[in-house]
Amino acid sequence: MRKYIIAGNWKMNGTKESVRTLLEGIKKGAVEINHPNVEWIVFPPYVFLDATEKTLGDSGVAWGAQNLSREKSGAFTGEISASMLQEFHCRYVLVGHSERRTLYGENDDLVAAKFMVACQAGLIPVLCVGETLAEREKGLTQAVVMRQLNAVIRLAGGVELFNQAVVAYEPVWAIGTGLNATPEQAQEVHAAIRKEFSQHDAVLADKLQILYGGSLKSDSAQAILAMPDIDGGLIGGASLKAEEFLNIGKSCNR
Ligand code: 13P
Repeated sequence: MRKYIIAGNWKMNGTKESVRTLLEGIKKGAVEINHPNVEWIVFPPYVFLDATEKTLGDSGVAWGAQNLSREKSGAFTGEISASMLQEFHCRYVLVGHSERRTLYGENDDLVAAKFMVACQAGLIPVLCVGETLAEREKGLTQAVVMRQLNAVIRLAGGVELFNQAVVAYEPVWAIGTGLNATPEQAQEVHAAIRKEFSQHDAVLADKLQILYGGSLKSDSAQAILAMPDIDGGLIGGASLKAEEFLNIGKSCNR
């Protein structure tokens, strides 16, 4: 059975003080909830990774970064490399979040290159895919998602690397808007993603964790997380309060 992942993408939020409180709250709550089938992850801004590592340690809550550079080192002002993330014992890294794609011009090729760099460094990439509202309205949802996935599969020369990767379906129109996809809308895309992988490798497809993201809150989580192909959530706004984030994890019922 696939485990759930409940992951908080804090985006560009937090202060030293608020991050300390949030980390302590999540660490304590995750131990208390002690859900055997939930993996907890937080994705703080880079500057808080040190505090995150020190606070979470071996608590069982994992952490990762929101982005990484495709380059190893050198004159790339403002960039952060995979080896730097390794030094802070990040286990995961987000790749191709829609805000990176739309606000910072990351195209499918760059996202695929970053995915490869993450894998080569032993980091687990969480590959984010999803359509815009205009694309959904034109009936292009699955075409867009498959294009985004296939750019990575092509560069990776197959799906093998997805044995150590996670996929997150985040419809762009649902992110930060309060409009989450219905459980059925999300399930439809998740099932299509799994089917795409099963055409390459049925065993891998069956164990691949596919997360949903987009305005997930504790009151909407239960119905979404009950869907058979939804294996957890990538949560933005609602991950900034420990109690709300933990409550989403509590609604995992497989
Ligand atoms: P919200 O939960 O704030 O909609 O953000 C979702 C997201 O982008 C997580 O990566």
